[in-house]
This record gives sequence, C-alpha cells and structure tokens, in this order.
Amino acid sequence: MEFSELVRKRGMVRSFKDMQVEHEKLVKILSNAVRAPSAGHLQPWEFIVVKDDGVKRSLAEAALKQMFIAEAPVVIVTCVDTERSASRYGDRGRRFYSIIDGAYASLLILLTARDLGLGACFVGAYRDEEVARILELPRHVKPIGIIPIGYPAEKPPRYERIPMEQLVHLNRYGNRARLEDLVKEENR
Ligand SMILES: Cc1cc2nc3c(=O)[nH]c(=O)nc-3n(C[C@H](O)[C@H](O)[C@H](O)COP(=O)(O)O)c2cc1C
Repeated sequence: MEFSELVRKRGMVRSFKDMQVEHEKLVKILSNAVRAPSAGHLQPWEFIVVKDDGVKRSLAEAALKQMFIAEAPVVIVTCVDTERSASRYGDRGRRFYSIIDGAYASLLILLTARDLGLGACFVGAYRDEEVARILELPRHVKPIGIIPIGYPAEKPPRYERIPMEQLVHLNRYGNRARLEDLVKEENR
C-alpha cells in the first residue's frame, strides 16, 4: 500500500476474528518496530509478546476492563528500559526520551499491522503497577502501550479530524497558517 494511503487507512481496531496471526507477520511487525528512531540510538525497547489467554485476560482487566484486548490472538506490550535511556541522558532520558522512543515503535507496529491486513489498537489506559506485576517487569522497565493485534472483525471507526489549518502555525504560535502561505515560505 502506498504510504499516505496506509497512514489514512490506519485506524484502531477493537474487534478481532477468531484467527491466528501468522508467525511471519508477527516477526515482520517486530522487525519493523525495532527500526524506529530512538534517542542516542539507545533502542530502549522491550516487547512482550503475549499469546497466553490467562495473561491476555489479566491485561484486559488491568486496562480498566477493555476486554477486546483478550479477544486478540496476540498482544504486544511495548515497554521501555528507562535506565538504558537514563544511562546517557539522565532524567531527561528516563522521563521523556524513553516514552517517545516507545511511542515511535508502537506507531510502527500499528502501521505494519495495517499494511499486513491486520488490525491493532494502542491501549494506553491501564494501571501501570498491575501490568508490571502481570508481566513480571523489573522496576526500570515501563509499559508504554498494550497493543492487541489480529484479523479485524470490524472496519475501524472513522473519526473526524480537527482541520489541519487549526493545528498549524506559521513562524510563531498563534499565526494561523493558510496552506498557500506555507507553500510560499517553502519556495522562498
Ligand atoms: C496515548 C494513547 C492512548 C490511547 N488509549 C486507548 C485506550 O486505552 N483504549 C482505546 O480503545 N483506544 C486508545 N487509544 C486510541 C485512540 O482512542 C485513537 O487513536 C483515537 O480515537 C483516534 O482514532 P484512530 O486512531 O482510529 O484514528 C489511545 C491512543 C493513544 C495515542
């Protein structure tokens, strides 16, 4: 799929068919995830691949009972080793860069899943301590997102987007850019 089409067609899927995800597809998703950028190329990721039904159910409970997580044949929990990021960047690495690195890898998981004809959802609403206990994470490894993946049993809902013009500023905050102005700027 052409990249912009992929970006536009990606959407969170919250219902899955009772069908396994092929091993090759899972490997492809993970091998793309580790191509994400990371601060200082420290690659602080730790991906927990969950296939066990009991563990999936516990994660769904920890995610404030978002039970569709347990429906997916496979769940990837993107985690980051905050101390790997802190080793070079101190507190900024621990609290800021590691989270961004985890988010980038998660986005690649979502996009790759869609590209392979799968559906996925980034779930960020969960009780951290409970997820850490279920997955036996060491204290310095933090969960960034729970991502159930499977063959979609629904079309992802289409949410309206805030018009781009309202989100873009030219040169300084508050200077609402018209697209023509941005093009002019680029050509200067
Ligand atoms: C940080 C973050 C946390 C999210 N947490 C949840 C969640 O707990 N449960 C859920 O169903 N969707 C969650 N989402 C998905 C958003 O609801 C979704 O991306 C948004 O509504 C736009 O829809 P779309 O991604 O399908 O275009 C989360 C997304 C992000 C980026």
